[in-house]
Amino acid sequence: MNKEVATTGVLDELLGKIESRTYTVGIVGLGYVGLPLMWTFHQKQMPVLGFDIDESKITHITNGTPYIKHLGEEMMQKLAKSDICDATSDFERLPEADAILLCVPTPLDNHREPDMSFVEKTVRAIAPHLRKGHLVILESTTYPGTTEDLIIPILEEASGMSADSDFYVAYSPEREDPGNENFNTAKIPKVVGGHGADALKLATALYDTAIVQTVPVSDTRTAEAVKLTENIFRSVNIALVNELKVVFQAMGIDVHEVIDAAATKPFGFMKFTPGPGLGGHCIPIDPFYLTWKAREYEQNTRFIELAGEVNTDMPRYVVRRTIEALNSHKKAVNGSRILLLGLAYKPNVDDDRESPTYKLMDYFTGMGAEVAYYDPFVPVIRPSREHAHWAGTTSVPWEEEVIRSYDVVLIATDHKNVDYDALVDWAECIVDTRNIMNNRDGVAEGQVWKA
Ligand SMILES: NC(=O)c1ccc[n+]([C@@H]2O[C@H](COP(=O)([O-])OP(=O)(O)OC[C@H]3O[C@@H](n4cnc5c(N)ncnc54)[C@H](O)[C@@H]3O)[C@@H](O)[C@H]2O)c1
Repeated sequence: MNKEVATTGVLDELLGKIESRTYTVGIVGLGYVGLPLMWTFHQKQMPVLGFDIDESKITHITNGTPYIKHLGEEMMQKLAKSDICDATSDFERLPEADAILLCVPTPLDNHREPDMSFVEKTVRAIAPHLRKGHLVILESTTYPGTTEDLIIPILEEASGMSADSDFYVAYSPEREDPGNENFNTAKIPKVVGGHGADALKLATALYDTAIVQTVPVSDTRTAEAVKLTENIFRSVNIALVNELKVVFQAMGIDVHEVIDAAATKPFGFMKFTPGPGLGGHCIPIDPFYLTWKAREYEQNTRFIELAGEVNTDMPRYVVRRTIEALNSHKKAVNGSRILLLGLAYKPNVDDDRESPTYKLMDYFTGMGAEVAYYDPFVPVIRPSREHAHWAGTTSVPWEEEVIRSYDVVLIATDHKNVDYDALVDWAECIVDTRNIMNNRDGVAEGQVWKA
């Protein structure tokens, strides 16, 4: 008997459960990706069971209190009150879920190589609870081959079952853009690659209940490659406009004006905005997952690495511009008081992972400056592996006397809820990496330095 005939009955039953909303979606990892995903399924009346090793997140979900600022309190309270949603750190409850979606971190290790320890640990924790008919989907960003070469062997070995006939496996990259008011999880088409036709059918049916569009691709490797391609595209294009910024600044040309005008071309140009460097858990990291994997095939990724170099160098350019700005006020960095405005890597979120602001704070501190930060989204720096030495530092208050006490205010992130007009009144010297001060009323000659 061939595999498809043997499993048709099971598959139909599972598809029926999805259709009738009696199919429980397990989500492992309830961070910037997993929590909105939980909300997205919940909104479509799909039962959801969230898992995380971080007890504090479970307590927040149970009590309805926010832990990711931009997602707000209302959503958390609805999740807490819901009788089809629950969250736990008890992996013994995994069999209650019909599908297990993995949304755990995929950072780089100290040698800038993929750190798959979170994924591997999670898969090993799931394996003993795997049962027939389970659907396991990896959503974390990763190199092509992860699902087939890493995940399936662990699951098969530990469970004694086969991904070809007993359980289903798929890869579907998360494209969540935290803080994006136009596109939330439900509105972003979802690419899905299945390990076999049945897995693809099941995973597609599941996402179809909650996501605007499902985009099936040939297999899990292709789906893994899609996600990396998207993020490499961003990294390379950001590097390009960052390079243009430096070149045009030397020529006395405003790169932002150039880009805005170029963007009026209705075809063949896509707008990217320069900044102080890359941040976040995705763009500075994901391209190197491909670089690492490409080495195994004796392939070079020169473009990707060059983009990485250009972007990594941006904080040093910002430092140079800040030195020029201070110099114009007859001041040296050494002994200056420098305020970094914005610790989050992008506006209106509280995510400070890989933020270039940390690089800037380190550079200025190393040059003898007295450094502080202001960020309404990050009142205190949480402990982390990346910048342990800043843990516990608190944001300065937004008060005239405080802001006036700094020799320069460097805008690293253009949060919406900052009073930039007050900043014009209070700050003697402003270095603006986001072009937020452009054409603002009241700016004095030499007060604002674009960087
Ligand atoms: N943040 C984004 O904007 C974004 C966008 C698209 C894709 N991604 C990708 O999604 C994945 C998750 O990113 P994120 O930003 O949500 O990370 P995150 O750090 O915000 O969340 C991950 C969660 O997983 C939990 N976790 C870690 N190990 C675990 C384990 N063994 N068992 C259970 N839970 C565990 C952590 O406690 C944390 O709550 C990454 O691969 C990332 O590249 C992120």
